[in-house]
Amino acid sequence: MPSLSVHVGGLDLCNPVLLAAGILGTTGASLCRAAEAGAGGVVTKSLGSVPRAGHPGPTIVQVECGLLNAMGLPNPSYRDFQDEIETARKGGVPVIASIFGSSAEEFAQIARGLRADAFELNLSCPHAEKYGSELGRYPDLVEAVTGAVKAASSVPIWVKLTPNTADILELGLAAQRGGADAVVAINTLKAMAIDIETGYPILGNRFGGLSGQAIKPVAVRSVYDLSSRLEIPVIGVGGITTWEDAVEMIMAGASCIQVGTALMKGYGVFEEIISGLSRYLERKSMTLEDLCGMAGRRS
Ligand code: SIN
Repeated sequence: MPSLSVHVGGLDLCNPVLLAAGILGTTGASLCRAAEAGAGGVVTKSLGSVPRAGHPGPTIVQVECGLLNAMGLPNPSYRDFQDEIETARKGGVPVIASIFGSSAEEFAQIARGLRADAFELNLSCPHAEKYGSELGRYPDLVEAVTGAVKAASSVPIWVKLTPNTADILELGLAAQRGGADAVVAINTLKAMAIDIETGYPILGNRFGGLSGQAIKPVAVRSVYDLSSRLEIPVIGVGGITTWEDAVEMIMAGASCIQVGTALMKGYGVFEEIISGLSRYLERKSMTLEDLCGMAGRRS
């Protein structure tokens, strides 16, 4: 069987299929379970400097081809999550801590206080005032936050980018200038749903972020644009549900991929994607390296 191990953004991964932030990342046990189910790395739910309750409910609604969420970054704070990370490490794969803040200094403070194998900077949540894309849509702030965390920490820094922008490449270039080891594309698309019986927006926060199959073509295009210009690796996320989706995202230029919403089908999705990808490479007599960015070389 072809080797699926890969070195991406400063981490050695036994395979390129990771658990995305936000899904099953709230406890060490669920992160560990994802690793045992085959994930090559796991990303925690986003952690801030103080506990947050998140937005009022409903916080999640299923829509056509995806999920709409406005969780509002609920978390117990990084100070109360170190034990969960230690538990997650028992899964034997890198544990990447997703972190958020309202300023470069707040991000850096968390990076100084939390131990993880890498940090993924959430500069892209589309529905939390003062956080996420409210900073991450400005290239100068992306560069400043990345630089501050890089200076505060010795582990790899990944920057998760927002698609809610006219030009995601500008944001990727800013992360690279700030010293990022990789960019992660994409977070959810800002979206809403309305109950037609009552006329009320369904989510407690009125609007939220759309994930799942509906956003995959946006993610593929973003990864393609970023990987054609950046020198650092691009990690693809957004609507990946099957091994065919994973192949497509890697062909677009992703060095590895993350799976989130598809986990609604259960932990078995890791094994399905990994074995399908492996069989595909064997059938085509290709390596992961051959596959990565193939679409860019063909155009
Ligand atoms: C949340 O926890 O509110 C979602 C995080 C995100 O969209 O980045």
